Amino acid sequence: MTATVRTRVAIVGAGPAGLLLSHLLATAGIESVVVDSRTREQIETTIRAGILEQGTVDLLAAIEGSRVHTVGHRHDGIVLGFEGSGHRIDFPSLTGRSVWLYPQHEVLKDLVAARLAGGQDLRFGVTVEAVEGADTTSPAVVATDAEGRTLRIEADVVVGADGSRSVVRPAVVGSRSGGRFREYPFAWFGILCEAPPSSDELIYSRSDAGFALISQRSETVQRMYFQCDPELDPASLSEAQIWDALQRRVPGTVLREGPIIQRDVLRFRSFVANDLRRGRVVIVGDAAHTVPPTGAKGMNLAVADVVLLAEALDGLLLRGDASLLDTFAERALRRIWKAQHFSWWMTTMLHVAPEDSEFDRLREVGELRSVVESEAGQTYLAEGYTGWPL
Ligand code: PHB
Repeated sequence: MTATVRTRVAIVGAGPAGLLLSHLLATAGIESVVVDSRTREQIETTIRAGILEQGTVDLLAAIEGSRVHTVGHRHDGIVLGFEGSGHRIDFPSLTGRSVWLYPQHEVLKDLVAARLAGGQDLRFGVTVEAVEGADTTSPAVVATDAEGRTLRIEADVVVGADGSRSVVRPAVVGSRSGGRFREYPFAWFGILCEAPPSSDELIYSRSDAGFALISQRSETVQRMYFQCDPELDPASLSEAQIWDALQRRVPGTVLREGPIIQRDVLRFRSFVANDLRRGRVVIVGDAAHTVPPTGAKGMNLAVADVVLLAEALDGLLLRGDASLLDTFAERALRRIWKAQHFSWWMTTMLHVAPEDSEFDRLREVGELRSVVESEAGQTYLAEGYTGWPL
């Protein structure tokens, strides 16, 4: 038995990109169905990044019930640490903007609640098998629902917002991996710990031992990362070894320690799919591109894609005008490549690669100095970090 559903936009993936898209479409009066292979609980509890650009916050704050301004924290700067000292970059004085620390799973709780309250057809535990008919005006998603039944969703447009292991991507680029990518010879060892904050603002620190990032989650829970080998087993270090690795990488700050409640190793990858659209099938967010986490661009870039796509679908589905959809990929890719550069730049400047020569190491410190000792340099970083206008 196959259940067939008909909608205007079939959205695969209930992450930030998919849920925000369904929200923007609903606001314009365009109906959509959102499916995700995960359960609601998995979506709402998976720990991901935490920094939102000003434009992302403004968009989310406008959604009924959003807690971004009440639970999130505004950050007016970051500290760049190197050679034993910290250098603060003050965002408002340089750009008139700030960023907000509001973890992605909190964003998702807000979006899921708002979509369900709005009567959105949102289905969890649905595994997509294939996307058909990209070159027709009626593409379809073929899936298995939570009860094991075949589900066919016929739509005017199919959107893949299903993350870096996207099952929609092959319908656009012809294969799972078709794109441009770059690997990095390091990863981040991430922890969540129960401790008070060690710093009011995020510290991005480069040391001879490697990079560390001191971030926060709340008054009682902190998120921290340090550079490690991508093959490192997260279970292989004792808590004392973890604190020692972190503390050595932030020499100017005394870390406030506490029980480590979660640990993971995050691999680094930069990726941009060869195309973002084929006919009536489009990919956005991590399905279309991945950035290393150093610039905090991942979720923000997904939001920027979705803003452009919502406008393009509005044109196509409400006015029969395909021109914005035809140029969607080209326009989205301009920001995507800027963000790729920004993330690559922050990453290479702040990490010590195993193959770095003495020349490379000293040059990278020179690069950091040329940022912090110049207002133009600081402004360049602040503009990228707080996000270019949407
Ligand atoms: C985080 O808090 O998880 C976080 C913050 C900034 C980054 C990456 C991750 O650049």
